[in-house]
Amino acid sequence: MDKIVINGKRPLNGEMSVSGMKNAAVAVILATLLVEDKCLLENLPDISDVNVSLEILRSMGATVERRDRNTALIDTKFIKPGSSPYDLVRKMRASYYLIGAELGRFGKAYVGCPGGCDFGTRPIDQHIKGFRALGATVDVAGGYIDAKTEDGLHGSSVYMDVVTVGGTINTMIAAVKAEGTTVIENAAHEPHIVDTANFLNACGAKISGAGTDVIKIRGVKQLHGTSYTIIPDMIEAGTFMIMAAATGGHVKITNVIPKHLDSITAKLDEMNVGVEEGEESVTIYKKGDIRSANIKTLPYPGFPTDMNPQICVLACLAGGTSLITEGVFENRFRYTEELKRMGAHIKVDGRVAVVEGTGSLTGAPVRAVDLRAGIAMVIAGLAADGITEIDDIFHIQRGYENIVEKLTRVGADIRLVHVPDAISYSKAE
Ligand code: EPZ
Repeated sequence: MDKIVINGKRPLNGEMSVSGMKNAAVAVILATLLVEDKCLLENLPDISDVNVSLEILRSMGATVERRDRNTALIDTKFIKPGSSPYDLVRKMRASYYLIGAELGRFGKAYVGCPGGCDFGTRPIDQHIKGFRALGATVDVAGGYIDAKTEDGLHGSSVYMDVVTVGGTINTMIAAVKAEGTTVIENAAHEPHIVDTANFLNACGAKISGAGTDVIKIRGVKQLHGTSYTIIPDMIEAGTFMIMAAATGGHVKITNVIPKHLDSITAKLDEMNVGVEEGEESVTIYKKGDIRSANIKTLPYPGFPTDMNPQICVLACLAGGTSLITEGVFENRFRYTEELKRMGAHIKVDGRVAVVEGTGSLTGAPVRAVDLRAGIAMVIAGLAADGITEIDDIFHIQRGYENIVEKLTRVGADIRLVHVPDAISYSKAE
């Protein structure tokens, strides 16, 4: 098991470039199943969730050519329905897009239940509601989702009971080749929903309204291949912004869409962090002591839930008390137990964490409990006095491309250390 070792309290200085967006890439990759033609995808992040998604398609009979680690030429013409490997599917949440794509193309889907980060129950009842509205029967048994339609999917109106990224994208994917028009109401607005719609439209789909509450999909008979470039990852960008702020550095973060970062920029400004926006960059610099603030995570354009652990580390480094309210998931504060090992003063009650900022943290052996919690341990290690060792870093490698190299380039003292399994830091499950 590898681990990350950081010698902290060194300000980051220089430039960091953002990779393609994980949550757009995994959706677009699995949506190519609908296309039955060649699709060239560029700006894919070189992360395990992307590589697992490509491996799933390959296992199902697609051809996947990697021109370089950020590009893939995918041809799903000869893919076999219901053949996705259970052990790969359960490695990540985004596997649920296989259901919408298989249903949309073959009129049937047989996919293992998805995996993903553990912060409470993560139902897919809204996905199923969407599929049923389109005319499919859906059963869940034996660890699999079994969906089918006798006479093809037909357009319909679906009102999402909760704002759900996955449910919105999955229903959109399934509706692309349905007979007639589908309207999704109370849709999520995230940029990766727009990116997936833009990809599908580039293949000949007729989707309008992505990024708003109401998405309309007019069914088409056939799609064709295309070349498509994935948008930059707003959560990686936000993570880098907080890394720079937490270490009191001066960092220009390039290859970003500043508009996607508005809620993060506003919150950092409120916490007395310097933020300067460029055309395709944001620059973070130290203005003075970090101030406390209250944060509520919400669906886009609210402050992202995927930035909850990262902003919590910054709150620990602030003077005063901050309140973090998790507005999306039931239990996204497991990571706070690891931060407490580093001297953080945090009290959690359900969806609210009260953070008493101490202005500093001390290095300690910690573990990544999920993807964004793991990168928050990196931020804490970068800011802490002394050495931090982070175990279970496979979580981090799901969503951050070359994070050790990217941080080393801006002055971090950070290493990837290989630890033979026998002596790796034992984690109390
Ligand atoms: C996506 O998860 C992302 N994952 C998550 O990113 C992200 O945190 C989340 O959206 C919110 O932005 C991918 O895109 C692969 P939801 P998803 O459906 O689709 C409830 C990361 O770190 N809900 O928007 O699972 C659900 O329980 C990961 O990159 C239902 O009740 O999120 C949650 O409370 C972590 N029924 C809320 O809706 C459903 O059918 C939002 O979930 C679906 C969701």
